[in-house]
Amino acid sequence: MLLVVLGFLVLVAHLEFKGKDIISIEDFSQQEINHILDVSKSMESLARGGSDMLRGKILATLFFEPSTRTRLSFETAMLKLGGGCIGFAEPDLSSTRKGENLADTIRTVENYAEVIILRHRLEGSAKLAAEFSKVPIINAGTGAEEHPTQALIDLYTMRKEKKRIDGLKVAIVGDLRYGRTVHSLAYALALYNVELHLVSPETLRMRKDVLATIKDKISVTEEASIEKIIPQIDVLYVTRIQKERFPDATEYAKVKGAYRIDLKTLSSAKEDLIILHPLPRVDEIAPEIDAMPQARYFQQVWNGIVVRMALLSLVLGAVQ
Ligand code: CP
Repeated sequence: MLLVVLGFLVLVAHLEFKGKDIISIEDFSQQEINHILDVSKSMESLARGGSDMLRGKILATLFFEPSTRTRLSFETAMLKLGGGCIGFAEPDLSSTRKGENLADTIRTVENYAEVIILRHRLEGSAKLAAEFSKVPIINAGTGAEEHPTQALIDLYTMRKEKKRIDGLKVAIVGDLRYGRTVHSLAYALALYNVELHLVSPETLRMRKDVLATIKDKISVTEEASIEKIIPQIDVLYVTRIQKERFPDATEYAKVKGAYRIDLKTLSSAKEDLIILHPLPRVDEIAPEIDAMPQARYFQQVWNGIVVRMALLSLVLGAVQ
C-alpha cells in the first residue's frame, strides 16, 4: 500500500509544470509530453472562444533572431488566455545594441513578466538564461541546437491527424545538421514506438550526438533519397536548408534545392500520407502541393497556438 501511495506521489510530482523552464525536449518524459498534448487539445475551444485564465499575467518575447510563427503564436496564445505581451523582435532596438549581456537582459525583464520566451542564435543561451531567471524561460529556438515547442506542435499535429504516434513511420527530410526543429523532433519521436527515416545530403546528416541518443531507442535509417522510402511512410516532415547557418556560401550552393516535394514525389506515396513542415519554406515544397489533402503544414500553424496556450497555462500554474 505504501508503495502504491509513494508511486502516486512520484507520478503527481513528475507532472508538475508550474514554474518549469522549457529548454530541451530531452527534459521531458513521454508521460509529460502526452499530458502537454492532452492539455493542448483542451485549448482548442478556448483558442476559438477566448478565456481570461491568465488575466494579469505578462509574457515577454525576447527575439534575437527573426521569427514569424513562434513569436506571433506565443503572443496570440497569451492574448487568447487574457494575458498581456511585451518584448522585442529586433535586438538592435534593445540595449543589447549598447553592449548589455543576456544575463542582465534576463535579470531586467524578469521584473516585467511572469514568463520569458527567448530565441537566440547561440546554442546554450536558453539554458544560460534559465540559470539567471526567477521566471520560467521557454526556448523558442537556440541556434542549430533545439526548438522544443515546435517539436510539441509537430507531435500534436501527428496525433491529431493520424490519431496516434506509436506505430508511425516518419521521414524527416532536408537539413538535419543545422535545422534545430529536427533535433528536438528526433529526440521527441525517440520516446515513442516509431520507425524513423532521416533523409539528407551527405553533408547535412543528423548531428552525431542526436543520432547516438535516438539510435539507442528506436529504429533509424539514414538515406540520401526520398524515392526509396516514400511508399512506406505515414508522415513526411520536410525542412528548409538553413542558408543562414552555413559557414561557407559554396557549401550551401552545393545542397541548395537538394529536395523538392511535388506531385511526382507523391505519386508513389500512401494515400493517407501527411506532409508537415515547421515553416518557413523556400522551395522544398512545390506550391501545387498546398491544395493536396496530404498538405498539413498550415494546420500545423494553428496547432502552434493551442500547444503554446497549453504551455503557458501549465508553466504559469493555471492548469495542472
Ligand atoms: N517554425 C518556426 O520556428 O517559425 P518561425 O521561425 O517563423 O518562428
